[in-house]
Amino acid sequence: WGKDGHYAICKISLEYLSEDALFAVKQLLPDSAEGDLAAVCSWPDEVRHNRHYRWSSALHYVDTPDFKCNYQYCNCLGLFIGDCHDSSGHKHRCVTGAIYNYTMQLKSARGDASSELKLQPLHVGFTGDLGGNSITVRWYRRKTNLHHVWDDMIIESALKTFYGSDLSIMIQAIQSNITDIWSNDISFWEHCAHNYTACPDRYASESISLACKFAYKNATPGSTLEDEYFLSRLPIVEKRLAQGGVRLAAILNRIFTSNKASI
Ligand code: ADE
Ligand code: ZN
Repeated sequence: WGKDGHYAICKISLEYLSEDALFAVKQLLPDSAEGDLAAVCSWPDEVRHNRHYRWSSALHYVDTPDFKCNYQYCNCLGLFIGDCHDSSGHKHRCVTGAIYNYTMQLKSARGDASSELKLQPLHVGFTGDLGGNSITVRWYRRKTNLHHVWDDMIIESALKTFYGSDLSIMIQAIQSNITDIWSNDISFWEHCAHNYTACPDRYASESISLACKFAYKNATPGSTLEDEYFLSRLPIVEKRLAQGGVRLAAILNRIFTSNKASI
């Protein structure tokens, strides 16, 4: 996601945080955030190209071999043939590995910086096109690439077309959908098997499946994407932002909510 996507996800998550988790998150925020979680939600993106944080760049995504529409963390039977590695082949250096790692750090130390949930479908893309970054397309009249369409342009066009260029109105609309048409899905979105705190492998499997079905579909190099693509993909983007918010809150709640046992 771009700045707006991350901001929306964090705003949505605030609605679902427990009192304990909200308190813990506020304690961890830098003073510059002035108590607003959403103010820091793009931080990993902002520093990603800074030379001191270049190591973190691979932790923003995970790609699968070209045209493989499913994802696997690893096949750990002695052989590592999983998808979670960086471009030099270092194991566990990908977005799902990073979410496992930072979740564990928060649980044990309850005091390190939180990682960001990357549920934008093309953050689980194909290796050969760098998650759509090297697929040049036109978004209406503008020349751009498919990855950027999914990080920013769909949200940007939706803001202009439907929400009076006001991000808070778009966020409200998504929040209404969560309590309305998606209300029965919330517990399914939140749930992780085996009592896991976070289940990034599940998020990544959903993402690559959506990437194949909606992002890559009809978006070949040189194509022009306009109304038909925009209007059919926007519901996917809005649902992914909703899931991101609900899941971020669920994970933080599992990390920080203390069991106040009654005596
Ligand atoms: N660089 C390589 N693959 C990428 C992806 N899927 N998303 C963002 N940046 C990438
Ligand atoms: Zn991106």
